[in-house]
Amino acid sequence: MKLSVNIDHIATIRQARMTNEPDPVYAALMAEMGGADGITVHLRQDRRHIQERDVEILRRVIKSRLNMEMAASMEMVKIALKYKPDMCTLVPEAKDEITTSGGLDVIMFSEKIQEVAGNLLAAGISVSLFIDPGIDNIKTCHRLGIRFVELNTGEYAKHSNSSFAALELEKIKKSATYARKLNFTLLAGHGLTYQNIKPIAAITEIEELNIGHSIIANAAFVGLKEAVARMKELLR
Ligand code: PXP
Repeated sequence: MKLSVNIDHIATIRQARMTNEPDPVYAALMAEMGGADGITVHLRQDRRHIQERDVEILRRVIKSRLNMEMAASMEMVKIALKYKPDMCTLVPEAKDEITTSGGLDVIMFSEKIQEVAGNLLAAGISVSLFIDPGIDNIKTCHRLGIRFVELNTGEYAKHSNSSFAALELEKIKKSATYARKLNFTLLAGHGLTYQNIKPIAAITEIEELNIGHSIIANAAFVGLKEAVARMKELLR
């Protein structure tokens, strides 16, 4: 299973002092040395961590795939068309949230998603939608002509080791099987850690995981290259 490392929180540390270190570009190169198959950044509308400058340089220097998470807005489309990441993942964005707080409401926002995705696809950028597990959500993504979906593991992660986590895991598995039947390339992520990853890593339909906070947190103690390598090991 592939691993895309989200390096937002390297930028969070930098922005805490509004200085120029630690540099997420350096982090991306270290993550690649640790075995990352891709680098993910979330260019938030409030620019609380990743800046446009980061996307611009990452696009030029990384050797793996660049996935840019973004709100489904035409303002963000303009930026994506300028830097051309390999993939854009559309996520819901709320001003006061600590982190992405759930999947996209693909049914309610299907028109906006179609407009944004259409512009990105026309420029040769793959489009993934971050969705909560559920058959209806997958059916809607299919109807919208989307080929990549990222299943939100946040609820599973939040309730680790409880019966609710087991129920959520079942939902993720069912959604994964259904999505593969419809030929989606399947990704998953949010809230995954070294402790809760195993049952998710065992779902063979999932091609790639998107992990940030836990890897960056561990990197403070063991270094980023090692933190990525240890997570990769758990995905084998
Ligand atoms: N996937 C999406 C769509 C996200 O928004 C995030 C958080 O930025 C992640 C995955 C990674 O989550 P975490 O930092 O909890 O590993």
